[in-house]
Amino acid sequence: MALGVPAFPFTFVVHFLGIVGIVLVLVWNIHFRGGFAWESSNKSLIFNIHPVLMLIGMIIIGGEAIISYKSLPLTKQVKKLIHLLLHAVALVLGIIGIYAAFKYHNESGIANLYSFHSWLGIGVIVLYGIQWIYGFVIFFYPGGTPDIRRESLPWHVLFGLLVYVLAVGAAVLGFLEKLTFLESSGLAKYGSEAFLVNFTAVLTILFGAFVVLSAISEGPAVPADDYAPL
Ligand code: HEM
Repeated sequence: MALGVPAFPFTFVVHFLGIVGIVLVLVWNIHFRGGFAWESSNKSLIFNIHPVLMLIGMIIIGGEAIISYKSLPLTKQVKKLIHLLLHAVALVLGIIGIYAAFKYHNESGIANLYSFHSWLGIGVIVLYGIQWIYGFVIFFYPGGTPDIRRESLPWHVLFGLLVYVLAVGAAVLGFLEKLTFLESSGLAKYGSEAFLVNFTAVLTILFGAFVVLSAISEGPAVPADDYAPL
């Protein structure tokens, strides 16, 4: 499916919102939450790795991976390589980020997987992994037959966007949940940190919306010698 408008302007909005998102999540976790640690007696510093890697990895780098076919003036083969590498980075950062949340829970004596956020999060990372492996095997190596590629492509696009939208939903629920925990322990409801977290959630939704908009709009013209099968 393609909207009859060029994707290129939307992709600039994605880059811009992505940079703002990175700044906001880092300011929140470094300035307001005290920074990061992998080993520490202050277990909150282990948790802080989680939102940063999930937003920068799965949402922002994952979003850039999705729009790479629309944002880059390169050949299809090069864009395909960038697409699969950026998704691999997003997946690895997502796995490390989720591991950090489990590590924080285990070392603090908190139960695992009790919230809707965590259920959705596990579902998203599993589906993201399946989507990546299927895409790699069918479109890259060893590669499916031309028939299988042609039939798989619309499903790959649809399933990829669905998983991405679910990831945006999981991230937004994560911001809501963490802010609710902080407010129940005394954080000012109209304070600057509360606004910052809510604003980061709004930005996450806008970023996701422009990724989807870019993905369903028209890509740049394909060079004539670039019509090799996917
Ligand atoms: C796509 C992005 C995200 C995914 C896939 C994800 C996934 C997960 C998973 C699987 C857990 C369970 C860990 C455990 O049970 O030990 C978890 C915990 C948690 N996450 Fe996320 N997360 C994401 C983004 C975020 C963001 C942006 C925040 C913002 C602060 C956040 C806040 C939390 C909190 C507070 C917990 C601990 C409470 C709970 O288990 O629900 N998450 N996340």
